[in-house]
Amino acid sequence: MSNSQRRILVTSALPYANGPIHIGHLVEYIQTDVWVRFQKLRGHECHYVCADDAHGTPIMLRAEQEGLTPEQLVERIGAEHRRDFADFAIAFDNYHSTHSPENRAIAEFIYRRLRDGGYIARRTISQAFDPVKQMFLPDRFIRGTCPRCKAADQYGDSCEVCGATYVPTDLIDAVSALSGAPPELRESEHLFFTLGRFEGLLREWLEQHALQQGIVNKLNEWFEAGLQDWDISRDAPYFGFEIPDEPGKYFYVWLDAPIGYLASFRHLCDRTGLDFDAFCAADSQAEMYHFIGKDIMYFHTLFWPAMLAGAGFRLPSNVFVHGFLTVDGHKMSKSRGTFITARTYLDHLNPEYLRYYFAAKLGAAIEDIDLNLEDFELRVNADLVGKFVNIASRCAGFITKRFDGRLADAAEEPALLDAFLAAAESIAAHYEAREYSRAMREAMLLADRANQYIDRRSPWVIAKDEGRAAELQQVCSMGLFLFRVLAIYLKPVLPTTVARAEAFLGEPGLDWAALTRTPFGGTINKFEPLMQRVDKERIAKMIEASKDTPQPAAADAAKQQDDFISIDDFARIDLRVARIEDARDVEGADKLVQLTLDLGGEKRQVFAGIKQAYTPAELVGRHVVMVANLAPRKMRFGVSEGMVLGAGPGGQEIFLIAPDTGATPGMRVK
Ligand code: MSP
Ligand code: ZN
Repeated sequence: MSNSQRRILVTSALPYANGPIHIGHLVEYIQTDVWVRFQKLRGHECHYVCADDAHGTPIMLRAEQEGLTPEQLVERIGAEHRRDFADFAIAFDNYHSTHSPENRAIAEFIYRRLRDGGYIARRTISQAFDPVKQMFLPDRFIRGTCPRCKAADQYGDSCEVCGATYVPTDLIDAVSALSGAPPELRESEHLFFTLGRFEGLLREWLEQHALQQGIVNKLNEWFEAGLQDWDISRDAPYFGFEIPDEPGKYFYVWLDAPIGYLASFRHLCDRTGLDFDAFCAADSQAEMYHFIGKDIMYFHTLFWPAMLAGAGFRLPSNVFVHGFLTVDGHKMSKSRGTFITARTYLDHLNPEYLRYYFAAKLGAAIEDIDLNLEDFELRVNADLVGKFVNIASRCAGFITKRFDGRLADAAEEPALLDAFLAAAESIAAHYEAREYSRAMREAMLLADRANQYIDRRSPWVIAKDEGRAAELQQVCSMGLFLFRVLAIYLKPVLPTTVARAEAFLGEPGLDWAALTRTPFGGTINKFEPLMQRVDKERIAKMIEASKDTPQPAAADAAKQQDDFISIDDFARIDLRVARIEDARDVEGADKLVQLTLDLGGEKRQVFAGIKQAYTPAELVGRHVVMVANLAPRKMRFGVSEGMVLGAGPGGQEIFLIAPDTGATPGMRVK
């Protein structure tokens, strides 16, 4: 059944040590954990390591804010992370920290090799410096007015209003987010990793491995654009490792973060006597896989393989990239209560529900996945409770009560059992390919067949007839034999539920090989309910509780943005009555009309996308409602100084909002 034993090292990305694990993260840890459990179930040697990503400016500043040392903060968050993972049954073989002696040693080792190999360059750069805090500022810690759309209070690298990207020096009236002082430009010497020298090697790596199409496309884009040197040093003060022979310079957090994979594995090897080199040396015959999210591909498919190669280690066998989680079709959001931390989830719901739901949605492509809360409830109840667990609860009671737990000596319908067993290779192939949704679908189709069998044979009817005892035992045993096969298939996804099933089946540690021996004539223990239905109320409570969760860490906050505005934001919108004084077509634009608006003395020019709905003649003289304090926007045809309000599906169906009759231009609309 199983091919020869493989040796596999697996990692998930290292979560930042300044915020809680949330259900978005869990897509990744569940995806990885399922894969690792599957490999182990198949009898392969597989080691799953992870760690907290402890270094960097945000963590240093967060600790300062809380009056802690970075070490203390990292310690506390690390403990929370471990607890969260354990409660979701994420079974790391080792969970370490990048702020560890192992990581320091390997980071220094790799750096020295790169340096001695001639892959480290030095260059003086000028960078924003906070004169009050006496430190260089990462782009994210500089705020100012967007040079393009003039929106206030934007980040130093990009504008959240118009999406422009730029360098911090382009910001208007820039200030340090830490001290409020205008940053100064200061020069400092930085160390760079010469990524470009690895282009050939990276192209080769790309060709020799079956990377996901999405990665291949990205890599080709990046090659096309040209590989830039990578700035790997940061000046003190910085929470990280000081660079050997470079006093006052520290490794940039993203340099030692992936090295943390090796450090965590090293720590495991030191604890257990495993051979580190067998997995990590250049001539390793073992496999090494990194599971990551799509936002950190650049680091894992360019810098990381290049660093490994430059330092004489093996390259990853593959990098498995997943998409991002949305909840009910939106980014996770605190105002919607969908920024759900692992802990809040655990306070309300069974972790196996989420493991199953994600598995039922996950495929191998780099696609976002949506947690639809209604679908979650329906699917978990229908599949896990209604189909899978139901098989056992319909059959086990009779075996215990009427036959003292003893199972029949043979399959009542051998062809059906054979059909169940025949699915093993296909389900295994789906797991192997990370096509969990397909594996789940196949398992649930089998569960349907098992339930149809039970319906057809109706043990509750047979049970009424004393003379049919043998038949009752055979039918219920048949149901349990089928259930047992499904339990094995679902075990990577539902380790805790299946452990309970194993307890009542009296077969701890079921693995893939156990498929070859159906327990004919065996005995079972008393059946305990395996899983409760999802309670809608609890979902509602979890959402409610998530509305109060404290601010996520800065790193998360930057990624996860609320898509609601507050009532105060809304009140800032200055709505006024305007009279359309002139309207004309815009040459070369198929949607725009150029309007001249009279705001009670003041004139405004607005380009409105309503050409398909109104002719200029229909517009002149009308009263409309406009947003009067919208920042002017430069468009291809001129500057637009406001916005006219309308509603409708678009195209020919846009209906301008008409103010009350009697409203005069310039009047405020409430
Ligand atoms: N510390 C870095 C990783 C360093 S790996 C050497 C980091 N940390 S993170 O905490 O922001 O993210 C950890 C992992 O979770 C990443 O792979 C990231 O893509 C993933 N996810 C974070 N939010 C996510 C969603 N909303 N949805 C799916 N995955 C998400 O990045
Ligand atoms: Zn902007």
